Amino acid sequence: MFWLGIDIGTGGSRAILVNQAGRLQAAYTSPHEEMRMPKPLWAEQRPENWWQAAQAAIRGVLAEAGVHGSQIRALGLSGQMHGLVLLDAQGEVIRPALIWCDQRSQAQVDAIHAKVGREKVLAYTANPVITGFTLPKLIWVRDHEPHLYARVRRVLLPKDFVRYKLTGEYASDVSDASGTSLFDVVGRRWSKAMCEAVEVPWEWLPQVYESPEVTGVVSAAAAEACGLKAGTPVVAGAGDQAASAVGNGIVQAGVVSCTLGTSGVVFASQQQPVYDPAGRVHTFCHAVPGTWHVMGVTQGAGLSLQWFRNQLAPGLDYDQLTAEAAQSPPGAQGLFWLPYLMGERTPHLDALARGAWVGLTAKHRRADLIRALLEGVSYSQKDCLEIIEAMGTPVEKIRLSGGGAKSSFWRQLLADVFGKPVVTLETQEGSAYGAALLALSREYGSVQETARLATREVDQSLPQEPATSFYRRAHPVYQSLYPALKPIYRQCQDL
Ligand code: XUL
Repeated sequence: MFWLGIDIGTGGSRAILVNQAGRLQAAYTSPHEEMRMPKPLWAEQRPENWWQAAQAAIRGVLAEAGVHGSQIRALGLSGQMHGLVLLDAQGEVIRPALIWCDQRSQAQVDAIHAKVGREKVLAYTANPVITGFTLPKLIWVRDHEPHLYARVRRVLLPKDFVRYKLTGEYASDVSDASGTSLFDVVGRRWSKAMCEAVEVPWEWLPQVYESPEVTGVVSAAAAEACGLKAGTPVVAGAGDQAASAVGNGIVQAGVVSCTLGTSGVVFASQQQPVYDPAGRVHTFCHAVPGTWHVMGVTQGAGLSLQWFRNQLAPGLDYDQLTAEAAQSPPGAQGLFWLPYLMGERTPHLDALARGAWVGLTAKHRRADLIRALLEGVSYSQKDCLEIIEAMGTPVEKIRLSGGGAKSSFWRQLLADVFGKPVVTLETQEGSAYGAALLALSREYGSVQETARLATREVDQSLPQEPATSFYRRAHPVYQSLYPALKPIYRQCQDL
């Protein structure tokens, strides 16, 4: 028998198969349409496209492994968090989803805090509302598209739309629901108080489960479409970051992960909910029942490199870009990159922040631009790490995953910038792998045990001198750039 994990990412949907020991058997990715950006800092995707990609990914992974749908014991879902999927009374999609990195809703964030009160928002949901989260996007639709809002009967997160297509059930899990601003993270249930305070009908929200729980079974129609067997159980799964943490074995306090995908996330597991009073890192439910996590988010991590390649180095692949970066010395000859291409969450919580190279001279070559870019993303991840450490989480080493983990150059750079060992695991599959492990955990009775069995460290990069001392000196210079540029970002927006 096999267990299937499906991740509805930003760039694509990925399906993977594991065996009873949690060993990876096959993987298949089906790309998504490019995200639409009708205006700067707006970001939309079509949920129907996620469903098409998910079907292709499931069919693809079964074909690749030569496995029949009837051999799948259970499947788990993970996905990009915070997206707003709106369905009408017939279960049809009303408009394209506003996705996690969409930053259009600052006015709604301010209005929610003013109406409900920041203290009450924290008491109800454990986090301040930010533009990235789901609720202000919903209120934006209410404010700007009332004719569409009038048709809304259901609000779903991205992976839960795919679940609806697979099972016909409206359901979610505690980790993904945590990022909506409508969820009582401490009580692990929807916050009626928050729904009432912002006048959002409670009945629109799906039923919430702990991540390993079964939320329904694959319908006959979905079985036909995907090559699965009708009746296959679908577990709740998790938001992509909590799922990735399960795949990385971050299921108890002490080990911290860094996942470099489109976004970059530093993640630590907690036995109790703990908070940064300034709300710079999120406090959410973990996919391990009865536990929580904190995470700091760099909006434009892999996105910085992807943007660079698409705009300034078309035709080159990521290996060529990082090889070129290695030709530049630490510090890229006094050049800094601010990775705020989609505003920033940790540590600034500023939807209007913008990207920049600072320190350019005529001597700089493209290699310096790329090195500075990788360093800027790494400093930003260090900002996340420092806040989490200051909250009392001891960090001995960091487990790295995501696309960025594939580059040995970037792994070493992160070890030097963090000043800590960076390790990688045998399976660096991240979210889809975590989703499969959550499905598998039903056999073992515990997510912790499943994750422990399945995660094996294989590679370690240790911080090296003189680079580590150099980055310790240079990081404060990087940190001084955002406050200096902040007033200018506002002017850019107002032009
Ligand atoms: C986490 C977050 C991103 C998205 C996209 O809070 O917004 O990691 O889930 O991957």
